[in-house]
Amino acid sequence: MPSVYQLLPTTDGGKPDEQLTRKIKREKIKKILFHVLAVSAIMVIAAQGLRAFIRSSERFLQYGGKGCHGMQRNLSSLPSHYSLPSGDKIPSVALGCWKSSPGEVGQAVKAALNAGYRHIDDAWIYGNEKEVGKAIKDSGVPRDQLFITSKLWNSFHAPEDIEPALDESLKALDTEYVDMYLIHWPIAWKKDENVLDKELTANPYPTWQKLEELVDKGKIRNIGISNFNIARVKNLTGNALKYQPAVNQVELNFFNPQPELLKWSKDNGILLEAYSPLGSNDNVKKALSVPEVQEIATELGITPAQVVISWHVQRGTIVLPKSVTPSRIEENLHVFKLPDDLFEKLENASVSHPPQRTLNPSKSWNLGFDVFDEKWPF
Ligand SMILES: NC(=O)c1ccc[n+]([C@@H]2O[C@H](COP(=O)([O-])OP(=O)(O)OC[C@H]3O[C@@H](n4cnc5c(N)ncnc54)[C@H](OP(=O)(O)O)[C@@H]3O)[C@@H](O)[C@H]2O)c1
Ligand SMILES: *[C@@H]1O[C@H](CO)[C@@H](O)[C@H](O)[C@H]1NC(C)=O
Ligand SMILES: *[C@@H]1O[C@H](CO)[C@@H](O)[C@H](O)[C@H]1NC(C)=O
Ligand SMILES: *[C@@H]1O[C@H](CO)[C@@H](O)[C@H](O)[C@H]1NC(C)=O
Repeated sequence: MPSVYQLLPTTDGGKPDEQLTRKIKREKIKKILFHVLAVSAIMVIAAQGLRAFIRSSERFLQYGGKGCHGMQRNLSSLPSHYSLPSGDKIPSVALGCWKSSPGEVGQAVKAALNAGYRHIDDAWIYGNEKEVGKAIKDSGVPRDQLFITSKLWNSFHAPEDIEPALDESLKALDTEYVDMYLIHWPIAWKKDENVLDKELTANPYPTWQKLEELVDKGKIRNIGISNFNIARVKNLTGNALKYQPAVNQVELNFFNPQPELLKWSKDNGILLEAYSPLGSNDNVKKALSVPEVQEIATELGITPAQVVISWHVQRGTIVLPKSVTPSRIEENLHVFKLPDDLFEKLENASVSHPPQRTLNPSKSWNLGFDVFDEKWPF
């Protein structure tokens, strides 16, 4: 490898001039140092610029381009709450807590309350109510500003088993009352057996009557149902109820938009809550890459998840996105009214393929029938 020495002029006898060598060496080092400094300075400036650019795009993504000139359409907001038959107000976006494992659900709830969520969707069967309750307490948000949902599990539908099950949830959540208590599934199991209680499954009225009693007792503010199809709702509301079901929590997402159930529920005054609104773990990626979702996100300068969550609220439902990732938790709270043409485009796309459910436990529960079958057993 040629070194600087080989290129040096030689004086007498071919021996390099040592002074000259040192001088050239010094100059060479200065030159290299200068280059290194110049390159580092350019890199620092570029990195700062990039960071600022990312920050402004994030802001742009989160707030729908508000404040940016002449680029996107001006988006207005969607209702932050709905009114329930009791007169209570229910926040339209909740943090879902299913599959948020112990050790991560607490920080998710804290991040959510910090970001401004006031509605937490939990259930006895999720096995994380204790950690959720602690995170709520630690947050310091006053109880009367929160809307907490829990759900009655299949094993406790018998009237005598309901209050103890509710008490267990209340204790874990560290609260005197829940704002909403749902019959989690229209399936009653005999306690401790996982064997179908056919009678109580076919006719949930005795379960409902006990829940009404617990409303009067002050342990529950609103009662509702979950995973009930139209036939089952009709069967329940065909009784002389003291309190109508305030909500029906069902699967609603791009792949399973259930337009008939939505219309029927609106016509009959039952608010729907959209569970697995992003398609749940298995389909969230697919849902967020739907071409229409992507196009609308680009056009409005919001994220694909914000498009989908906004669409749910604009359809007139409550929406329960689950995340344990603080940045997503924050992102998911920001809903916007999609311009009518874009809303219609997404609604049309959602019904232009055969519906596909993400969640149906009928087989794994060995029911011998489909829990969503409109015909069974009436
Ligand atoms: N009543 C019932 O029978 C029933 C049944 C199912 C669900 N639910 C309720 O509904 C809630 C939501 O349903 P779900 O948990 O099935 O599914 P989901 O909310 O549709 O999807 C959750 C998945 O989406 C990811 N995600 C969330 N926000 C995102 C974003 N902005 N960008 C990209 N990915 C994002 C989450 O990842 P990370 O968490 O890793 O961020 C997680 O993998 C449940 O937690 C539960 O409260 C009720
Ligand atoms: C954009 O929306 C804001 C808030 O809704 C409103 O005050 C403003 O007038 C709107 N601007 C335009 C150009 O429509
Ligand atoms: C609900 O269905 C069950 C089972 O078919 C039936 O016994 C009950 O009378 C029905 N209730 C109403 C109000 O229709
Ligand atoms: C949506 O579908 C309806 C009925 O097919 C159609 O009349 C309407 O033009 C469609 N809207 C959009 C934006 O694609």
